[in-house]
Amino acid sequence: MGVQNSRLFKWVLWVSVITAFFLIGFIIGWFARPTPNGRDGASRSYLRNFLDEMQADNIRQHLRKFTRLPHLAGTEQNLRLAQQIRDEWLQFGLDSVEIVPYDVLLSYPNRTSPNYISIISENGNEVFNTSLSEPVPEGYENISDIVPPYSAFSAKGQPEGDLVYVNYGRTEDFFKLEREMGINCTGKIVIARYGKIFRGNKVKNAILAGASGIILFSDPADYCAPGVKVYPDGWNLPGGGAQRGNVLNLNGAGDPLTPGYPAKEYTYRLNVDQGVGLPKIPVHPIGYADAVHLLKNMGGEIPPNNWKGDLNVSYRIGPGFTAEFATQRVRMNIHTNNQVTRIYNVIGKVRGAVEPDRYVILGGHRDAWVFGGIDPVTGAAVVHESVRSVGKLMNQGWRPRRTIIFASWDAEEFGLLGSTEWAEENSKLLQERAVAYINADSAIEGTYTLRIDCTPSLHTLAYDVTKQIDSPDEEHAGMSLYESWHKKDNWTGDRDAPRISKLGSGSDFEAYFIRLGIASGRARYTKNRKTERYSSYPVYHSVYETFELVERFYDPTFRKLLAVARVRGGLVFKLADSQLLPLDCNEYAGSLNKYAHSIYQLAQKHQADLLKYQVSFDSLFSAVANFTTAARDFHDRLVHLDMTNSMNVRMVNDQLMYLERAFVDPLGLPGRPFYRHIIFAPSSHNKYAGESFPGIYDAMFDIENSKDPGAAWSEVKRQISIAAFTVHAAATTLMPAA
Ligand SMILES: *[C@@H]1O[C@H](CO)[C@@H](O)[C@H](O)[C@H]1NC(C)=O
Ligand SMILES: *[C@@H]1O[C@H](CO)[C@@H](O)[C@H](O)[C@H]1NC(C)=O
Ligand SMILES: *[C@@H]1O[C@H](CO)[C@@H](O)[C@H](O)[C@H]1NC(C)=O
Ligand SMILES: *[C@@H]1O[C@H](CO)[C@@H](O)[C@H](O)[C@H]1NC(C)=O
Ligand SMILES: *[C@@H]1O[C@H](CO)[C@@H](O)[C@H](O)[C@H]1NC(C)=O
Ligand SMILES: *[C@@H]1O[C@H](CO)[C@@H](O)[C@H](O)[C@H]1NC(C)=O
Ligand SMILES: *[C@@H]1O[C@H](CO)[C@@H](O)[C@H](O)[C@H]1NC(C)=O
Ligand SMILES: [Zn+2]
Repeated sequence: MGVQNSRLFKWVLWVSVITAFFLIGFIIGWFARPTPNGRDGASRSYLRNFLDEMQADNIRQHLRKFTRLPHLAGTEQNLRLAQQIRDEWLQFGLDSVEIVPYDVLLSYPNRTSPNYISIISENGNEVFNTSLSEPVPEGYENISDIVPPYSAFSAKGQPEGDLVYVNYGRTEDFFKLEREMGINCTGKIVIARYGKIFRGNKVKNAILAGASGIILFSDPADYCAPGVKVYPDGWNLPGGGAQRGNVLNLNGAGDPLTPGYPAKEYTYRLNVDQGVGLPKIPVHPIGYADAVHLLKNMGGEIPPNNWKGDLNVSYRIGPGFTAEFATQRVRMNIHTNNQVTRIYNVIGKVRGAVEPDRYVILGGHRDAWVFGGIDPVTGAAVVHESVRSVGKLMNQGWRPRRTIIFASWDAEEFGLLGSTEWAEENSKLLQERAVAYINADSAIEGTYTLRIDCTPSLHTLAYDVTKQIDSPDEEHAGMSLYESWHKKDNWTGDRDAPRISKLGSGSDFEAYFIRLGIASGRARYTKNRKTERYSSYPVYHSVYETFELVERFYDPTFRKLLAVARVRGGLVFKLADSQLLPLDCNEYAGSLNKYAHSIYQLAQKHQADLLKYQVSFDSLFSAVANFTTAARDFHDRLVHLDMTNSMNVRMVNDQLMYLERAFVDPLGLPGRPFYRHIIFAPSSHNKYAGESFPGIYDAMFDIENSKDPGAAWSEVKRQISIAAFTVHAAATTLMPAA
């Protein structure tokens, strides 16, 4: 071989080597490129596997396992359950699981001085006492640590006085009593039936009315469905059953002693007498078997028919008893103690493969009043099965694009404490990185159809996910969940779709949505709102919430719980794994438009005042119009987005993620510093219900009776301007960056 040939050979060799490297590089690059169809296509088939992996019988077993013993927050048993859940989540394959403690204010009855209410005779003898506990259901007789019915955080005390019946204890009920019936509740013990609104609001109203104590009772009209037997022969509340529950007015503060900050060992604590939301009067719940004794001899006026429940009594208003029993009075004996107690959240994580710094959270509580048959364990069992299914997928090599955080919250029943403390501890991280929060409390409250409450930007995803899930309704076999839900709860009015409602509160999403501005949603099976009048579900928060209640009456095949597991899990999966976040700004625009019109309509009842005080909603409508345009243009631009450019994708995803954050006003709503979302807040009159444009709504509430209408309408104007500014400012976050 000559010199020339050798050179040529070397040259050819170099070219071949370089070409080979280039080709290999190209092939690697080809397969590694961020293809929208590649990863998303795989994601779709993993979603199918994820949904199919979840099984009804597993959910049944999780429910069985987690409802054997009472697991009240702050007890040894609830810590054991936390440890068990941590261990199983690790076995299922999560990357990390830790137990995160806080020391928060809880409240328990005194074990040696029971709480009860009595009727006392002239000489002070207790001639009637309410029962000290509920009759325990068969099979659970030997279980020792069942907390008797009580109102957590009640003040201690033994007030005596005449009874006044206040219907549901709503704002409008007290207005009627005070303004139309001329009843003065000062120094009286009021008795209110449970239902319609959050019990803490009833207590707040009683305090405002000057009551010295409040008795809460479950009326059969609200806690017994017609034609259904009482537990254990049916799912109605027995006469001896009563509803436990906290009676705080926290307004989102979390632990009453550490508002705004996590309740760690070093954290400064308020004195208990300065604690947030603690009622200053005794409160106690009773069942209808006891209530009938308190109500049957009441005197005073006969109330309107819609104040009458289903007991065989007249429902007279009082104050006090009829002439025959005029010397008798009522005494409350309440010895409940507040106590700083350690609670434990369980936090499990799966690190995201592509965007580990973006978090999707699935959280629900673990603590129960007693066994937690429905509340919360139907929720906790569903989360458990989702974690198992995620673990299974990870064993097959899958990893979500974003980080998923699973949470088992403690002390939800004592005021959403575990979830709020964790939100406080991690608020800086969450406001930078949280994409969405899906709540997982009770998965069933009725057997009729699906119920979803969520932020408007999740509407489209909720419809999309439910189309991929089989309906559990026997009469709708073969239909998708979307179709059976659509048939049963058609959204009348502006669209042909199943109804989705706005979020209220009363569960652990509150701090995430209303304080931090993280897109949130919840899903459960529910009753038929048109025909089923009773509140929540009859045995809510009683000792009769057992495994057997669910297995016999609510979901014998566990297919409804499975469907809910798939909805909650499917939402989380799509939020965590879609390349482009499945959030819809056009839906937000539509909802804002609807809410602006409805608050405007409400204002039209005060035509003369609107003119006199020059109140205009023009700025709000202008802001909503700007938002609508910005949202439409944003989604139009998405169609042409270069999905292979990861920087561009990340930019629009950040706009989508931060949209909910833009509705947060750091100053909060008037008098409610932890309710900071300008579009949504729990109603000031019922924590369970959501109110839209709550600042404007509250400023106009009962304005016709305002002592200083000029000042009141000025406040309305201020609130309209805050809402207009916030909506317009949110619109600017959707506009092109430059
Ligand atoms: C519970 O009641 C008993 C009296 O029966 C009393 O001695 C005790 O101090 C009370 N406990 C608390 C923590 O208040
Ligand atoms: C009510 O309880 C008190 C205190 O235990 C007791 O003295 C009284 O006899 C009881 N009254 C009735 C009617 O049982
Ligand atoms: C309760 O305990 C008693 C005595 O220890 C026992 O005879 C009975 O079988 C137990 N009942 C249940 C339901 O476990
Ligand atoms: C109600 O009664 C209290 C004292 O009994 C009194 O101070 C108060 O002014 C009364 N309220 C009304 C509205 O009459
Ligand atoms: C209702 O109460 C009245 C008076 O106490 C009694 O005479 C009547 O039998 C009761 N009705 C029913 C249906 O229990
Ligand atoms: C829902 O209602 C709309 C309008 O009222 C109607 O056109 C549509 O057929 C209904 N859909 C279902 C599934 O019932
Ligand atoms: C809506 O946008 C227009 C045009 O940019 C602007 O003039 C107007 O002030 C905006 N409305 C509000 C409430 O900011
Ligand atoms: Zn719950």
